[in-house]
Amino acid sequence: MSALRDGALVIAIDGPAASGKGTLAKRLAAHFGLPHLDTGLLYRAVALALVDAGTDLGDERAAAEAAAALSAEGLADPRLRERAMGEAASRVSSVPQVRAALLSWQQRFAGGPEGAVLDGRDIGTVVCPGARVKLFITAAPEERARRRHRELVGRGETVSLDAILEDIRARDERDSSRAAAPLRAAPDAVQLDTTELDAEAAFAEALAIVTRLSGARR
Ligand code: CDP
Repeated sequence: MSALRDGALVIAIDGPAASGKGTLAKRLAAHFGLPHLDTGLLYRAVALALVDAGTDLGDERAAAEAAAALSAEGLADPRLRERAMGEAASRVSSVPQVRAALLSWQQRFAGGPEGAVLDGRDIGTVVCPGARVKLFITAAPEERARRRHRELVGRGETVSLDAILEDIRARDERDSSRAAAPLRAAPDAVQLDTTELDAEAAFAEALAIVTRLSGARR
């Protein structure tokens, strides 16, 4: 673990599906001894609450109520990682009242005394615009599809690589074009393309960027 100077360190990590942001966020959090929040899980949990209640995913009022009622315990459900939940989360996440209900949750998490690492789509732009470090992680859609395919097959799901590539393209389009907090890099984010990088190399690059921007020692 490394030493931090100047108080709390908030690291905001954004990027499209399966870009490697979650793995990076986890490793950076462990390295700096900071709490980590995968904010995608919040949207997945809202979607799962609707599915479990048999409610249509297009029911915006029910989605907003589910977001307001979200609890930390709900975030441990292994079903949240399933392919269908990624799609469902992307649908409920375009509802402004859902985003508003989850905003204070995320900002409370980020406001702890040591700081935090958060990954998602709008952390650097909306949730933590004042974060000391902002990373925007990208990778080519084909490479992201390969990674997500490996992950889902490893978890026992049966799905083709082509279907995953289609999911990823559709999700990129939906997440980037929605009116409420669309996926985009903050003007002061450092972009990191991980297409040619394995997890180790991506971590080394990200760590170098964080160290440079935060004044933390490695
Ligand atoms: O792991 P993956 O990148 O596939 O997805 P995720 O981070 O779990 O997010 C699932 C969906 O939730 C995304 O496609 C977004 O639509 C939405 N999301 C969001 O709108 N804002 C965030 N901060 C995080 C996720």
